[in-house]
Amino acid sequence: MTTADTLNQRFSSGRQLGFREVNGLAVAEIDTPLASASLCLQGAHLMTWRPQAQAEPVVWLSKLAKLAPGKSIRGGVPVCWPWFGPHATDAKLPAHGFARTVPWELSEARVLGDGAVELALTLPGSEPTRALWPHRTRAELRLTIGATLTAALTTVNEDDHPIVIGEALHTYFHIGDIGAARVRGLEDCAYLDKVDGGARKRQDGAITFAGETDRIYLDTDAECIIDDERLRRRIRVAKTGSRSTVVWTPWTEKADKMGDFGPDGWRGMLCVESANAAENTVTIAPGERHTLAVEYRVENF
Ligand code: BG6
Repeated sequence: MTTADTLNQRFSSGRQLGFREVNGLAVAEIDTPLASASLCLQGAHLMTWRPQAQAEPVVWLSKLAKLAPGKSIRGGVPVCWPWFGPHATDAKLPAHGFARTVPWELSEARVLGDGAVELALTLPGSEPTRALWPHRTRAELRLTIGATLTAALTTVNEDDHPIVIGEALHTYFHIGDIGAARVRGLEDCAYLDKVDGGARKRQDGAITFAGETDRIYLDTDAECIIDDERLRRRIRVAKTGSRSTVVWTPWTEKADKMGDFGPDGWRGMLCVESANAAENTVTIAPGERHTLAVEYRVENF
């Protein structure tokens, strides 16, 4: 019996929630009167989300996204954990941690009374990851998938010493065109500009895009709003337990080099990542837990 068969026996809920296998990876498919979505159990990676009221997806997945054991998926909501970006001391370790490329366990999956689907996934400490992260730490991701999307990433320190984590819900949003989008909510915020050697700068007004943009906004728990003139809608990104917001678009040259965006794919996406990164990493005492939570909501205008 495949993993998908086992998951279907345990959790399937008719047409609204089912599982299939793609290239050896289990994928949850959700199709309810509120939303359609899909999630790969490797990485607890939500790949797509479209509220039924929206003609276009809200979470972007590259047309060239590949699903393969041990590889990250271009698009969706990668879970960056337990560090963000390059590892602080060892450049050989994977960027954005390892959570996005290892299997997670599905512990709960059900249709709630209001019609949203709730999924809970767990990443227990395991032998293969011990070499990368020598601490007893459990991660949990809880998602509610309906007309709005919520995700809560909890880290539990099961060790006897404090741990320091970096993390992000590295969400790729689908937009009509990057040249006609802007992000509000980070006005006057300090940020590290990764396309300018990490220089520390201050945001002046709303963020607009005319080239590669890769910034870590610091000390902010502000709600961000993506205004999308082309699709005539705004996406609201509200968060708790997150002190950084990363805004990233690769633009032509970098997207071409990365090879999995497809021709002009990058023009239709924008990452607004709720994070704890750089000087906003989080220290968790033994026995304590920390939760980073987001809520995404779409309004048409
Ligand atoms: C962003 C980083 O969060 O992720 C960028 O700020 C990085 O520097 C981007 O290029 C994509 O990372 P990856 O590892 O998924 O290609």
